[in-house]
Formats: sequence, C-alpha cells, structure tokens
Amino acid sequence: MKKVFITRKLAGSAETMLRREGFKVKVFQDDSPIKRADLLKETIDADALISLLTDTIDREVIDNMRRCRIIANCAVGFNNIDVEYARSRNIVVTNTPDILTDATADLTVALVLACARRLREGESMMRSNNFKGWKPQLLLGLEMKGKKVGIIGAGRIGFAAARRLKAFGTEIVYFGRTKKEKFEDELDARKVSLNHLLKSSDIISVHLPLSSETKHLLNKENLRLVKRSAVIVNTSRGEIIDEKMLIRLLKKKRIFAAGLDVYENEPGVNPELLKLENVFLLPHIGSATIETRTGMAELCAKNVKNVLNRKSPLTPVW
Ligand code: NAP
Ligand code: GLV
Repeated sequence: MKKVFITRKLAGSAETMLRREGFKVKVFQDDSPIKRADLLKETIDADALISLLTDTIDREVIDNMRRCRIIANCAVGFNNIDVEYARSRNIVVTNTPDILTDATADLTVALVLACARRLREGESMMRSNNFKGWKPQLLLGLEMKGKKVGIIGAGRIGFAAARRLKAFGTEIVYFGRTKKEKFEDELDARKVSLNHLLKSSDIISVHLPLSSETKHLLNKENLRLVKRSAVIVNTSRGEIIDEKMLIRLLKKKRIFAAGLDVYENEPGVNPELLKLENVFLLPHIGSATIETRTGMAELCAKNVKNVLNRKSPLTPVW
C-alpha cells in the first residue's frame, strides 16, 4: 500500500480523498512544525509527502526519502523546498497556485486600508477605553482615491490585489521581470523601474516569490527612496524586505505605515515591530479562509493521487 505522509492536519477532506484511493495516510498530529528528526523518520518510506511552508525540504530530507515520487507543498510559495534537487531525483514538486489568489489579495487590501486609516490605533483606543468622543483631527489617515499604487511582482496575486485597489480610484504602476500586457490593458497600468516605483508610489505592495534574486530586493539603499507619506504592505515573504531598515524608517516616521503578514524570521517577530504604532501585523494568514485552505489541501491530494497513479500532476512548479 502506498504511503502518503502529511506534516500537519489540513482543512477539508484531503485525507479522506486519499484514503478512498487506497493509500495509507499518516498525518503528523502536533499542531506545530514537525521536528527534523520526525520528518526524517516519517518520510523515509513515504511514496508522497504533503508539506507546508514551515517544513524545510532540503537535500538531506530528499536523499532520506527512498520511495518518494511527489512533494506536494500546501502553499503557492515553494522556497522551503530544494526544487532543483528534487527534480534531479525525479521527484515531482507541486504547489497550490490560483486557488489562494483571491484570499491573499483580499488580505492585502485589508492591510492597505488598516494602514491608511490607522485601524490599529483606533482599535486599541477603543479597547483601552480612551475614546473620548469625536474630534476633528482624531486619527487622520490617508484617502485612497487619487493615490498611486506600486505593485512589486505583477503575477497572480499582484494582479488580483491591483484590481481591487484600482476600484478605489487609484493609479497603478508595477515592477517586474516581464511586461504584463493584460495587467496594463485592464488596469491602465505602467511598468516602471523599482526605484521609480519606490520613489513615486503612495501605496507599495509586495507580491514576489522569495528567491536568491528577490531576497532583500527592498534594501538599505532603495527603501530610503520611499515617500514619507507612503504605506508599504508585504503579503509575500518577509525576507524580500530588509526588515531592520524598514523598522528604522518606520520608527523615524520616514514611512507613514507598514502592513505585514510575513516576517524575516518567522515565526519570530522582531520585538521592535511590536512597539511601533504605525505597523499593522498579521500572523501569515494571507490564504487563511475556510474555502481556500480546504481547496489548497484538496489540490495537494489531487496532485498526489495523480502522480501515484502515474498521471500528470495538476500544478507542478516547473
Ligand atoms: P506568481 O503568479 O508567480 O507571481 C510572482 C510575480 O513575481 C511574477 O509576476 C514574476 O514575474 C515576479 N517575479 C519573480 N521573480 C522576480 C524577480 N527576480 N524580479 C522581478 N519580478 C519577479 O506568484 P503568486 O501566486 O502571485 O504568489 C506570489 C508570492 O506570494 C508567493 O510566491 C508566496 O511567497 C506569496 N504568498 C503569500 C501568502 C500569504 O499567506 N501571505 C499567500 C500566498 C502567496 P514573471 O511573471 O516575469 O515570472
Ligand atoms: C503562503 O504563504 C503561500 O505561499 O501559499
């Protein structure tokens, strides 16, 4: 009987789907990232692995898996996996694109609005019983209409976020490797250089995958270009922004606010971030809706089913 190992309990009916196919399914039961030793022990005889973005699937893990034919990552990002090495060992790697695009774009908009309208400060004022009545200058934030939105990485989520933000009456510019005709036509968007985007945007939203090219793409030098009145939102990967520099600029109020769903050293959060008034922090919940997480788990199960039944995977990463 083929064994499928899942590193954490997932939403929806993925497990049932796989058992119905006749696979032996083992799910790691702790609701925290699986320890290295357990991962190595459990995957040694697995024919398929369903992994999470919190699992590092490197050469050692891949070499340790004697029978594995597929690593199905329950995330669209796959920077936690040594994909090239898996490929060299003829192991298919799949991810969960598209299905989480809307949920993550929705959360991006939530962070943009939370920052622009100072929702964190407003909420904590209420909870600490410090609301003493309406004031003409209480918590003045930024209007969306007429602002320039800079999308860094105009892929699936960047496009979906831009569509939503355009509806507020904004102008869209983007930075990326390739020209996006559909993005430009539909949103009247313009491709610009990264420095131009950082200098001119009122709202900056990051939607890149993490790679050696994108790590600290926003760094000590170019973050200084960001307008004092700008909002930066990151729902992609923490390592893309030099977090220490971002904190320094936020502290000095050299940037209006930042909305973060992801961090450089997850699950660790720089304690300096927690002290700042002008940040809105979320615990990496971009795709966390019932519908999306259920769909992601089921997509992983379908990929596993296909590959173990010698069919093509639905969403291979290459
Ligand atoms: P995608 O469709 O692949 O979009 C990524 C975009 O980044 C593409 O347009 C790509 O350009 C561009 N890009 C890649 N490398 C680049 C580089 N070196 N320089 C400039 N542009 C580059 O991916 P997606 O589905 O939108 O997801 C984006 C990322 O969001 C994921 O990788 C993941 O890390 C993150 N994410 C986070 C959450 C969360 O919970 N917070 C949820 C979902 C996703 P090309 O089109 O030219 O390749
Ligand atoms: C979430 O961060 C994902 O990459 O799906």
